[in-house]
Amino acid sequence: MNPSDQMTADGYLDRYEAAAERDPLGGIALLAGWLRTDWRPLFAELRAHRPVLVTPAFALVTRFTDVTDVLSRGEVFTVSGYAPRLEAALGGPVMLTRDGTPLNWREKALMQVMLPPDDVPHVRELVGRTADEALDAARPRGRIEAVGELFRHICMTVCAQYFGFPGPDAQTLSRWSRAVMTDATANLAGDPQIHAAAVRAGGEMMDHLHRLLAERRAQLAAGRPPAPQDVFGRLVRTVLPEELALDDRRVAINVAALLLGFAENASGSMVHVVQQILRRPQVHRAAAEAAHDPDPAVFDPHVWEALRLDPFLKMIPRTCAHDHVLAAGTPHETRVPAGTLVLAAVASAMFDEAVVAEPEEFRLDRPRHVGLHFGHGPHACPGVHPGAAVICETVRRLLRRPGLRLLPPPDGLVVRDRDVFPDRFPLGLDQKGS
Ligand code: HEM
Repeated sequence: MNPSDQMTADGYLDRYEAAAERDPLGGIALLAGWLRTDWRPLFAELRAHRPVLVTPAFALVTRFTDVTDVLSRGEVFTVSGYAPRLEAALGGPVMLTRDGTPLNWREKALMQVMLPPDDVPHVRELVGRTADEALDAARPRGRIEAVGELFRHICMTVCAQYFGFPGPDAQTLSRWSRAVMTDATANLAGDPQIHAAAVRAGGEMMDHLHRLLAERRAQLAAGRPPAPQDVFGRLVRTVLPEELALDDRRVAINVAALLLGFAENASGSMVHVVQQILRRPQVHRAAAEAAHDPDPAVFDPHVWEALRLDPFLKMIPRTCAHDHVLAAGTPHETRVPAGTLVLAAVASAMFDEAVVAEPEEFRLDRPRHVGLHFGHGPHACPGVHPGAAVICETVRRLLRRPGLRLLPPPDGLVVRDRDVFPDRFPLGLDQKGS
C-alpha cells in the first residue's frame, strides 16, 4: 500500500462544506464519490477533525469508540432501515430487521446453536476439497476467474452441502442472493426496479424453501435422518417447547438468512483479502509459506489483517430512533437528529490510531478486539465460526498455488456489479505444480 494513503489529506471537509453551502445535494454527491475512491484519507481526516459528520443525507461515524457505541445501542441506532426491503423479499421479519424483540432474541440464539464452532473442521474439509478441485481444474489454463470459479462456487457449495439448501442449482441460488442483497444493502436511492427484482427473487426462494421443508419433513417421517452437519436438517429435527416452537414460515426464513447473510459478504471479502495480499510481495511470500503449515491458525491472521486494510463491508447502516449525542463529553460531541441514516464506518474504526498501532502497516499481532469484520453488538454475526472458516480455508488453498499472481489491467481488474459486488477477478496460476 502507498503509505500516503493513510496521511491526513486536509481538504476533504473544506471542499465538502464549500460544495454543500452552494448545493446540499452536490456536497452529498462529493462525499459519496470519496467514500468509493478516497475512503482512507477521507476517514483519516474525519477521525482527526470531525469524527461524527452529520450531513442532510446521513451521519458518518468514524472513530472506533463511536462506531462500537453506535453498534452497541440497538435501542437508539436501529436496523429499521433494512426492514421494509428485506421483509418484502422474505415475506416476513428476520433477526436483522428486528431490534430487541423476542423474535430477534429467540431466533438469533437458535441460529447460533445451529452454527457452532464445532462445525469448523467439517467446513474446512468441505471447503478445502472444493477449492483444490476448482484450482486443479483451472491449472492447465494457467489462470482462474476467482469470483465465479472459486469464491462464489465455494459459497454455493457450502450453502448446498453444509446449510442443506442446494436450491434448484448453484446459479439460481447465486442469483437469489445477489438480487435480495443488492436491494437490502446497495439500493440507497431506492430504485423501484431493484426492489421489484429482489421481491421476485425472494418470492421464488421462499416458495422453493417451503417445498424443500415439506420434503425434509417427509424424509424424517420416513425414518431417513439428515447428515449430522446439515444446518437445515438440524432445524427440522429441533423440538422446542410449544410456546417457543418455530412454525414453517420461521424455519424457511431462517434458512434463507443463512444464504443472504453469507454469500455476498464472504465472496466479496475474499476478493479484497487476495488483492491486499498479492499487492505486497513480502506478505505474499510469508502468507504462501504459512498456507503450507498444517495448523490453520498460522495462516488465518494474514486473512484478517488483509481484510482490515480493505474491508468489503466498509460501513454498517443504522437509523437513529431519537435524537442522540455521540462522543458525549469530548470536544467532538455531536447531536444526531432522530431519523438520520447513520453509517458506522467499521473500515475507519479499524484504522483508528487510538486503538490500532501503525494502522497502515500489515501486522499479524493485532489485538483481536480491533477486528470488526463480523459486526459488533446485538446484531453481530451468528455465522462467525463457519463463515470465518470458509474465507480462511479458501484463501489458504489458493495461496498454496505456485505462480499465483494478479494479472495486469485491463484483464486483471476486478469487475463489480453496481460498483459494489465483485463479479470477475482473473488471477494467474502456474500451469505446472499443485
Ligand atoms: C456461515 C456464514 C454466515 C452466516 C450464516 C451469516 C449470517 C448472518 C446473519 C443472519 C446476520 C444478522 C444477525 C443479526 O441481525 O443479529 C449476520 C450479521 C453480520 N454478518 Fe454474517 N453470516 C455469515 C458469514 C459472514 C461473513 C463471512 C461475514 C464477513 C466477512 C459476515 C459479516 C456480518 C456482519 C458485519 C454482520 C452485522 C450486520 C449488521 O450489524 O448490520 N457474516 N450474519
